[in-house]
Formats: sequence, C-alpha cells, structure tokens
Amino acid sequence: MGNGIFITGTDTGVGKTVVACGLAALLKDLGYRVGVMKPVETGCGERDGALFPEDAFYLKEASGCELPLDKICPYRFRVPLAPAIAAAGEGTRIEVSVLSRIYDEISSTHDITLVEGAGGLLVPVLPHYTYADLARLLKLPLVVAAANRLGMINHLLLTLEHASCLQLSILGYILDRLERAPSLAAETNREALLSLTAVPCLGEIPYVEELEAKRTSLADIFKAQVDLRPLETDLRHRRS
Ligand SMILES: Nc1ncnc2c1ncn2[C@@H]1O[C@H](COP(=O)(O)OP(=O)(O)OP(=O)(O)O)[C@@H](O)[C@H]1O
Ligand SMILES: [Mg+2]
Repeated sequence: MGNGIFITGTDTGVGKTVVACGLAALLKDLGYRVGVMKPVETGCGERDGALFPEDAFYLKEASGCELPLDKICPYRFRVPLAPAIAAAGEGTRIEVSVLSRIYDEISSTHDITLVEGAGGLLVPVLPHYTYADLARLLKLPLVVAAANRLGMINHLLLTLEHASCLQLSILGYILDRLERAPSLAAETNREALLSLTAVPCLGEIPYVEELEAKRTSLADIFKAQVDLRPLETDLRHRRS
C-alpha cells in the first residue's frame, strides 16, 4: 500500500523542511499517524560526538514519529554537498536498497509518510541516480516547495515540467515566503502561475517571524493556508 509523499523543492534552502514539518504537524492534528524520512542529510553538524541531522530532527518533532533519528535519516554526512558527492568524498556509497527497505518499514506502520529530499529533484543520490529516480522507486507523488521570490516561476515550472516528463505524479506545490522584505514578485507569483500550469497551488506560507520559536505552531499556520484535499484524496485512492 503506497502512502508516502515526496517533498521536493525548486532548490536547496527553499522551504522543504518547513513545508514537510507544517504538513506533518497538520496531518498529525487531524489524527493521522505520520511517518517521516530524510533519506540522506548532508551538512550535518556534530552533537554529543555524532553527526546530527537537523532536518530529520525537525521532521520527527513535528510529526510525533516515534522512530529513532538513525531510522528517519539513515545516511548523514558532514560536508554540505549533494548526497552522491558527499558519500564519494567519504569513500562510502548510499545503498538504495537500504533506503527502500527502511521506507517500507516506516510506511507500513504509519498512515502517511513524508519523505524530504535534499536540494531539488535532480540532485544525485548516487552518481547515476537522482531523487526523481528514488521517488519513482518508492512510488511517491510529489509536493514541490518553492521559495516565493523573484525567479521562482522559472524554477518551479522547470521542476514541474521535468517531473511530468518523467511521469512522476505531482499533487501540487506550496509557495513559501522566506524573506521578510516586501516583494512584488511574492505578491504576484501565485496569480501568475495560474495561467502557466494546471498543477494546483496547495497553499502560500507567509514569512513567519522568529520561526525557530514557532516551529510547534506550524500546524495552525498550515491549517489556515494549505488545502490538504488533493493529498487526502490521493491517499484514499491509493488505499482503495
Ligand atoms: N515561512 C518562513 N518564514 C520564515 N523563515 C522561513 C520560512 N520558511 C523557511 N524559512 C527559513 O528558511 C530557511 C530554509 O528553509 P528550509 O530549511 O525549510 O529549506 P530546505 O529546502 O529544507 O533546505 P535544505 O535544502 O537545506 O533541506 C530556514 O532557515 C528556515 O527556517
Ligand atoms: Mg531541509
């Protein structure tokens, strides 16, 4: 039974973790048992003598997923590079079969499992294997996080277009405002996209002051801003 969603983005640092955490927290509040996975995290700092995957930690907190961080994030690297390159630099290799086995384990014990990529869709997990290949292998439809700023329309449309060329299923995109400063682009992007793609915008997340202190209230922000119906409908179809 497929019950996962792949949270990808138009780039690195565009709001994937915030979007995944907001969705996880909202779904949890609605009564779903939410599993999370960050298959590979790079750029990890150290905590208590071990590499600490911060994204995976936030995902765990937001979802209430009871699994240990080692399972949520089986591969961690210190260097802030694409997974394939970080792994090669340390003389190791990421095993897709390991990721697939762990995903199966997580998804079989949760109602819905959110999987966060790294960077964008074509970032390599292995030298000849991208996150798009992983999404296909795990049969995950996509939710695309896009930084709501000037230049986003092009990045988002390229991502959606390529995902559709690869015949990946796309549930929608979420625009995330990363900057406090007023932006004409951010105010007009959502409307402009309506005539450029038939893929639905699931929501627009405003800039959140002091986000770090408000991570626990992401469910409320997402409840007000995000339309979960395409996700829930897709989930029901896949179950039946
Ligand atoms: N709506 C928002 N309001 C304020 N700050 C935000 C918002 N969304 C994201 N940020 C901040 O922007 C930065 C990038 O967001 P995030 O970590 O979610 O991106 P990402 O795509 O997951 O990055 P990575 O590629 O490193 O996984 C973070 O510091 C985050 O706290
Ligand atoms: Mg992230």
